[in-house]
Parts: sequence; C-alpha cells; structure tokens
Amino acid sequence: MSTHTLGLIGSATDGLENIRTALVEPAIERGWQVAVTLTPTAGTWLEDTGELARIEAATGLPCRVAPRMPREASPHPPIDCFLVCPASANTVAKLALGLADNQALTTVCEAIGVQSVPIVVFPLVNAAHVRHPAWNAHLAALREAGVHLLTGDEYWPLHEPRSAPAGKDLPWDKILDAVESASG
Ligand SMILES: Cc1cc2nc3c(=O)[nH]c(=O)nc-3n(C[C@H](O)[C@H](O)[C@H](O)COP(=O)(O)O)c2cc1C
Repeated sequence: MSTHTLGLIGSATDGLENIRTALVEPAIERGWQVAVTLTPTAGTWLEDTGELARIEAATGLPCRVAPRMPREASPHPPIDCFLVCPASANTVAKLALGLADNQALTTVCEAIGVQSVPIVVFPLVNAAHVRHPAWNAHLAALREAGVHLLTGDEYWPLHEPRSAPAGKDLPWDKILDAVESASG
C-alpha cells in the first residue's frame, strides 16, 4: 500500500465541482492518499453543494479551508507532491508574488520556498487573464522556482471570457499523469 500523499489545492474556477470524481477518486485509485485544501471561495462553493463533505468521506481527511488555530496540530499528513488544480488566475498571481492570505496559498507558498517536493499547477484561465500585463511575469517567476506549469493547447486552449465550448471537460487524466511524472 503506497503512503504517497498528494496535496490537492483547489480554487474557485469552472470545473471545481468535479474534483472529487475526476481527480480525487482517480488519484486514490492510482495509489495516492489525497489531502485537499481549498481557497475560501472554493470552500464556500463546495460546502454549498455538499461536495466538501463527500470529498472528506472519500479521502478520510478533513478538507482544509480556514487556517488552524495556533494550539491545533495540522490535520494533514506530510505531502509528497502538490497539485494546484484548478488554479484561478487570482491564485496563480498570488502564488507568483508569494502572497499567503489564505490556507491554500500559505501551504503552497511555503512549499515553493522549501523546494523539497514537486509542485504542479494547472491554471484554468481565459484569454483575457493571459493578456493581463503581469501574467507572463507570474508564470516566469513560478517556472524559475521549479513549479511544473501545465499550460498550452495540449492542456487548455485559451478562449475569450464566457466563450469556452459548452461541456468541454478538463484534461483530468493528463493532469494526474503530469503529477506522476513530476513525482518521478
Ligand atoms: C461561476 C464562476 C466561474 C469562474 N471561473 C473562473 C475560471 O475558470 N478561472 C478563473 O481564473 N477565475 C474564475 N472565476 C473567478 C474567480 O472565482 C475569482 O477570481 C476568485 O476571486 C478566485 O478566488 P480564489 O483564487 O481565491 O479561489 C469564476 C467565478 C465564477 C463566479
């Protein structure tokens, strides 16, 4: 039985509602233990639909949204690989700048600095996000820090806002393949 733990960080984008069935459960089937942390907005979205509780039942671990109290121990085991997926433009920008104003960002910003485990990021962004003047510098900063960025047409072709083809699914299996390849 593998003890490899995937730290899955979810932010508030399209497709977030599918992370249990498309990412968490398939990762568990591939032999990972999965510990999920959500941004505050992502947490409210999944709490609203009941998915947060279903993720906790599937993983056997609490979903982290709020920071722990100083007297509390971390509820998650040590992480062997981080996957930020889906990563909003907002979360990518904050990660690149080292802003850690929520539990999800705190966890990954620290991991970027520690440099001991692979970090894979799948930005789910549109053409407008990418035209922001700071975007390319954000990606360059993350690449420079050794973050594995899953970008480009093979992962997610860019569309103008609200123009992605209806029903287009995210490349979940390719994302998990990238996690495995980054984890060596
Ligand atoms: C229904 C809905 C879908 C959204 N989809 C995306 C998306 O695909 N990509 C993105 O970068 N932002 C998207 N947003 C905007 C983000 O939710 C917003 O920027 C939020 O502040 C991100 O917060 P977080 O990064 O802390 O999760 C969406 C917002 C809504 C309401």
